[in-house]
Amino acid sequence: MTAAQPKFTPRIFSGIQPSGGLTLGNYLGALKRFVEKQDEGIETIYCLVDLHAITVWQDPARLRDQTREAAAAFIAAGIDPKRSILFNQSQVSAHAELGWVLNCVARMGWMNRMTQWKDKAGKDAEKASLGLFAYPSLMAADILLYHATMVPVGEDQKQHVELCRDIAAKFNHDYGVDFFPLTEPLIEGAATRVMSLRDGTKKMSKSDPSDASRINLTDDADTIAQKLRKARTDAEPLPGTVAGLKHRPEARNLVNIYAALAGRTPAQVVAEYEGKGFGTFKPALADLAVAKLAPIATEMKRLMADPAEIDRILGDGADRADVIAQPILARTLEITGMIRSRKP
Ligand code: AMP
Ligand code: TRP
Repeated sequence: MTAAQPKFTPRIFSGIQPSGGLTLGNYLGALKRFVEKQDEGIETIYCLVDLHAITVWQDPARLRDQTREAAAAFIAAGIDPKRSILFNQSQVSAHAELGWVLNCVARMGWMNRMTQWKDKAGKDAEKASLGLFAYPSLMAADILLYHATMVPVGEDQKQHVELCRDIAAKFNHDYGVDFFPLTEPLIEGAATRVMSLRDGTKKMSKSDPSDASRINLTDDADTIAQKLRKARTDAEPLPGTVAGLKHRPEARNLVNIYAALAGRTPAQVVAEYEGKGFGTFKPALADLAVAKLAPIATEMKRLMADPAEIDRILGDGADRADVIAQPILARTLEITGMIRSRKP
């Protein structure tokens, strides 16, 4: 952090799109770490970013269901909605308002360089929504609206968090203020990039057409075990060092998943399984994954039976988020020269 940063108290913000069921990638790259941060006692704010989800088409009824399901996943995984703030983005209108201001700070060229934009818009960028292009500046608004200092994310979001820093720095510079923090991405642990179970060169994703490519947090014990047993691998036994996994993406992925689930390092895992084949390693991984994930699926099911309670929790979280966001939005608008003469 730069010398100007100490005035910002440590605060964590992160978000997940409710655009499909959550996967093991979301769990290890994000959710599990969100819980660890909460349990370290840092102020934590977690958001289901429904405004980001609609940058690509979402069926309205499904979006509502998926938002509740994602909230249930957070709580089932260990987020305590009393200690953390848990809410859906669209209930705090300041996100969209600050997003607009930051659209006027960010540059087209910066957005054009975002690899996720290039991947998602594909060859037909003309047909992508304007929202998809502006997506990273709304993400910067999510973070800066709370003066968040740290953002736990998976590897794929690093570029977006760096862009958030560029936007904050340009705002501070253009208006001659030291108002927004230069937020740090937190990318830690053995599984910051969980790969597809069918192709070790592709990210595990909720939008992959093949269900066998991922483990969903809603999968039951049999499904989890079966998908891991069928995961693509090579025929070699496991090496004794992490370096030996270098050209073996599928093997490396399974070792990383094991390490992240067990709370160990990949080096410890290969040291234990050195010389063992996948006939031994996969069943051990399946047992571990079932032990860690099946209780989450069960708890999610229980929570989903009471959608009104989930909506109440999200509403309460939004109220508490709004209390932090409103003064920061108001100050931003003042800095930019907007008249603020309405009575509160
Ligand atoms: P998304 O599902 O794109 O909204 O991602 C939500 C969070 O999960 C972000 O922090 C991502 O970086 C993380 N994430 C998504 N997929 C993976 C993956 N395959 N491996 C690690 N982290 C992931
Ligand atoms: N773009 C993130 C993703 O797809 C989700 C997100 C939106 C986010 N706003 C955020 C993550 C703010 C961290 C902080 O994974």
